[in-house]
Amino acid sequence: MKGLIAAGGNATRLEELTRVTNKHLLPVGKWPMVYYPLQLLQRAGVREVLLVTGQQHAGQFIDLLGDGRVRSRAGDEELFDLDLSYKVQVEAGGIAQVVGMARDFAAGEQLVVCLGDNIFEHAQAAAIAGWRDGAMVFVKDVPDPENFGVVAYREDGAVADIVEKAGIVDLRYDGPPSSDAVVGLYCFPPDVFEIIDTLAPSSRGELEITDVNRVYAERGDLDVRRVEGWWHDGGKHWGDLADLGRLIEETGVNK
Ligand code: G1P
Repeated sequence: MKGLIAAGGNATRLEELTRVTNKHLLPVGKWPMVYYPLQLLQRAGVREVLLVTGQQHAGQFIDLLGDGRVRSRAGDEELFDLDLSYKVQVEAGGIAQVVGMARDFAAGEQLVVCLGDNIFEHAQAAAIAGWRDGAMVFVKDVPDPENFGVVAYREDGAVADIVEKAGIVDLRYDGPPSSDAVVGLYCFPPDVFEIIDTLAPSSRGELEITDVNRVYAERGDLDVRRVEGWWHDGGKHWGDLADLGRLIEETGVNK
């Protein structure tokens, strides 16, 4: 099992904060944002990690994280003991494009993908340890499902569809079919790359991870779990960054 961190993109929603800085390097509490998904992967038992980011900021990620063995600045604490590789995404083309870049890195193993701006109270380590085959995603009830990929359910509770930003990106729907957002933590079997090869760009011109998940759902191969604890996407609004830092101090993170 290997890990992938998606840390590219233009982060226009964070406005002035990301004019020169990569979103995933912004402070959330006492750490740069990207530390949290890295710690999640480490706590979920992943050691070999590929980080994909844009050309403009790749050097800063290498300065920060080196080969993946990172000690605190005071030297008294081992923050990460990962085997970290990097790949440069020259043009942002969606999360599924980023996952596609990990084909050679994954080399036939299962892949746990975490978006570099997604922060979790719990590392979901038990669910990931129990994952066998097929794909696994996690959902969380949100007040603004139009801003996320969501699950559409049948009456019996089975998954009917996976829908990316209903009415905005996925124009088959006027509005979100449920308030269960698919969060940015995905477990994919080795055939994910064959699915990515078949994708066409969405209405926003990106290869959507939601379209990958829909293929697994249609095959009956998608395990949908509920997130344990709180979850936040730190890339939505600048005002969330300080709140998130305080929440992490209060409750802990990646438990
Ligand atoms: C992305 C995905 C979306 C998912 C979200 C989780 O959206 O496209 O399906 O629900 O991450 O954070 P983005 O925030 O990149 O627009």
